[in-house]
Amino acid sequence: MVRHFTKLMELGRDEAHGLISLALALKQDGPLSHRSMRLAGRTLGLLFEKPSLRTRVSFEAAISQLGGSSIFLPAKDVGLGVRETVADFARVLSQYVDILAVRTFSQDTVEELARYATIPVVNALSDSSHPCQAMADLMTVQEILGRMEGVRIVFVGDGNNVARSLAVACALLGAEFRLCSPEAYNFPEEFRTRFSKRFPGLELDVSHDPKTGVQGADVIYTDVWTSMGQEEESEARRKIFAPFRVDESLMARANPNAIFLHCLPAHRGEEVTDGVLDGQRSKVIPQAANRLHFQKALLLWLLENDSAEVPASSASIRGPEEIWGE
Ligand code: CP
Ligand code: NVA
Repeated sequence: MVRHFTKLMELGRDEAHGLISLALALKQDGPLSHRSMRLAGRTLGLLFEKPSLRTRVSFEAAISQLGGSSIFLPAKDVGLGVRETVADFARVLSQYVDILAVRTFSQDTVEELARYATIPVVNALSDSSHPCQAMADLMTVQEILGRMEGVRIVFVGDGNNVARSLAVACALLGAEFRLCSPEAYNFPEEFRTRFSKRFPGLELDVSHDPKTGVQGADVIYTDVWTSMGQEEESEARRKIFAPFRVDESLMARANPNAIFLHCLPAHRGEEVTDGVLDGQRSKVIPQAANRLHFQKALLLWLLENDSAEVPASSASIRGPEEIWGE
């Protein structure tokens, strides 16, 4: 059975904890560890319909540090759904590479690729989710604050792809999540419904007042007000989101030791001031570094699960700890 990583709601709590532990262990090992050639001969395909620095380069570095290689597939050359169907692309590409990371507009494209591919498909960002980002973020919280359980993370801004995946990652890993957004930019109803089904009894905490919303926060997190693909809305959004800018006075309302996170890239002076982004409490650079370590863990987990080393009887789903026995 091929395991994909298209949405966090499919991940088990133990699997999520296991992936974070493996990522932290890999970071501690450094690039030249006993695990460093585990993916020798394996190839990662990268299909990106939107720009990227962190996700693309950290995936390429990750597979390279594990002994494998990558092939970047520019979306305009592939012409997904135009030059050929998503199904044909997925079936053919599965013969050439061992795993595919895809950054696309519609989440449906990611799901359709996973349906037809015979290799693992990884969501490298869609309009509605960014699971690799959220898991690396929780890894950063564990590393810097020493725990995830009970940590209060307040996402200030748009209820976008990054916010949604972060909410799910918090639910899986025991952190308390709150969205602090303008009313019209709350999580969409269908996300709220899926969340309640996946996590019965867990409330999606939402506030529309930034000043009170950040009280008690251990982590203040923000992202751009205008995501890729929404550029024509940017003028209107700048006005609506202005009270949600993270500045020094908003940070002062959080817990005294609260840290600041941002997935980057940032629109400096819009969702966050230079003072906060470059300040003592900002951990955005180590946060970006952890994209590499989490993705190494993810590649090992997905590819080792799918390898001939896994006995047929247990070839379904195994947690990362079982792979490494740690
Ligand atoms: N945070 C993030 O995904 O960055 P990129 O868009 O540069 O990949
Ligand atoms: N919400 C942003 C995240 C970029 C990493 C976007 O989708 O453009």
